[in-house]
Amino acid sequence: MPMTLHINGETHQVDADPRTPLLWILRDKLQLTGTKYGCGESFCGACTVHLDGKPVTACRIKLKSAVGKQITTIEGLNSRVGEQVKRSWLELNVAQCGYCQSGQIMAATALLERNPSPADEDINEALEENICRCGTYLRIRQAIKHAAQKLA
Ligand code: FES
Ligand code: FES
Repeated sequence: MPMTLHINGETHQVDADPRTPLLWILRDKLQLTGTKYGCGESFCGACTVHLDGKPVTACRIKLKSAVGKQITTIEGLNSRVGEQVKRSWLELNVAQCGYCQSGQIMAATALLERNPSPADEDINEALEENICRCGTYLRIRQAIKHAAQKLA
């Protein structure tokens, strides 16, 4: 029986095994491929999305657990904070290969939504599960602080 998902302000009917990870629903059924597959084990953060405003790894969330929640992916990240984070990312040329960056942006936005002026330790803690194999951590931190300043 199809289940209803609320994603980026739109409603989708999805017919799949309720145990399917949300990540596969987003990518394979709905073509929301901005959310990336890295490890599939909730270790890398590449698949970070927001569930009711909180950052979660979509590879860990089962379809049935996402029903009734507001899901936001990088494609629908258009809050004031999210827009500024994206602008700061571009302005500071954060991305290298780019693969991890949608997850980083989702995690950074969730951080700034709850803490408008994060210290280094806050950033480290909030993004500790978002791995960047290209090592863009310094620019990520700079971009978060840049966004915080612009939003203040
Ligand atoms: S793919 Fe989900 S945390 Fe790595
Ligand atoms: S920019 Fe390449 S993995 Fe992060």
